[in-house]
Amino acid sequence: MPRIIFIDPDGTRHEIEAPVGLSLLEVAHENDIDIEGACEGSLACSTCHVIVDPSWFQKLDEIKEDEEDMLDLAFGLTKTSRLGCQIIVTEDLDGLTVTLPAGTNNMM
Ligand code: FES
Repeated sequence: MPRIIFIDPDGTRHEIEAPVGLSLLEVAHENDIDIEGACEGSLACSTCHVIVDPSWFQKLDEIKEDEEDMLDLAFGLTKTSRLGCQIIVTEDLDGLTVTLPAGTNNMM
């Protein structure tokens, strides 16, 4: 199984075996990683915001416009920000590293 590395805002690292086909949000929830995901993956919030390691950012599927619009609302947006519910685990993502932002804007 591909391994995904989640890094907490305080720098704690969690290396997790992630089943192919799940979103990063689902993987996080199954493993007690603190990503909120208020809308449960329906692209209606930005609380699943993650910051992708720059070396991985290009390897992800291209960001869609809807996702970009939602991301604009995210707290602490960076150039490599994505929404965790829109990244689906594949074998190619073995080693993917994402950092959790220090806060979220929950407007729901
Ligand atoms: Fe709301 Fe991802 S969980 S947009």
